[in-house]
Amino acid sequence: MSIRAFLVAAVLAATIPDIAAAQDRARGEQLAAGRCTACHGENGRSQLEGIPSLAGQQPLFMVTQMILMREGIRQVPAMVPFVDRIADKDVEDLAAYYASLAAGPAEDRSPRDAALAARGEAQMATRHCTVCHLPTLQGREQIPRITGQREEFLAHTLAAYRDGSRVGADPQMNDAVRGMPDADIAALAHYLAHRD
Ligand code: HEC
Ligand code: HEC
Repeated sequence: MSIRAFLVAAVLAATIPDIAAAQDRARGEQLAAGRCTACHGENGRSQLEGIPSLAGQQPLFMVTQMILMREGIRQVPAMVPFVDRIADKDVEDLAAYYASLAAGPAEDRSPRDAALAARGEAQMATRHCTVCHLPTLQGREQIPRITGQREEFLAHTLAAYRDGSRVGADPQMNDAVRGMPDADIAALAHYLAHRD
């Protein structure tokens, strides 16, 4: 192979995955428009109580959750019409699109309460949340970004893991919040929602 042919091949090898990824995101955006956006927000930042923001969320986490919902393992009645028999390719493209959006806090976020946030931060240390969610709390692979998420969604979700009404692909999260009092859950949710 000539040097020129080698360079052309190398450049193509480097750019083709990028082009494919951009096409996946664009297809995901089309699939989301007017459907997912109605609940999860135009920019992936939810303005609705109880509905999580998806912007900047880990793509593998979103794929896992949509499949858990499609299979009826994670039961979210509001999501049923959107995941019923959804194709794996659609799930992957939707996740690629939402992962590409800039994360940010809810616009209707309550004022920060310093004492409550400090209590939540102390719980983070006691329960070793950063071991899995990482010190940035942006997560990795099947472990979600939890920083800047909506406060009431976080509180509801942590209580659901504690009470066993939400189970993931494995019971790691159920173990992480086992026996946690409501007041500590509220403090954790407040801390996380106000941590940009
Ligand atoms: C009618 C409102 C509604 C629509 C429309 C909707 N969702 Fe959801 N979605 C929800 C609710 C409610 C939850 C979870 C609430 C809970 O667990 O308490 C959720 C959860 C999720 C989650 C899990 C996120 C997490 O942090 O746990 C993903 C991923 C998701 N939705 C993707 C989508 C996609 C993609 C679409 C469009 C195909 C969509 N949703 C359409 C209401 C909606
Ligand atoms: C041993 C690893 C591990 C530890 C420790 C851990 N988590 Fe998790 N967390 C996970 C995994 C894995 C998931 C996804 C589980 C699923 O599929 O539902 C998750 C999910 C979550 C979610 C759901 C987010 C969403 O958008 O649906 C929240 C909130 C959360 N964790 C907060 C915490 C907090 C707060 C702590 C500390 C009290 C903590 N986690 C400790 C592994 C961990």
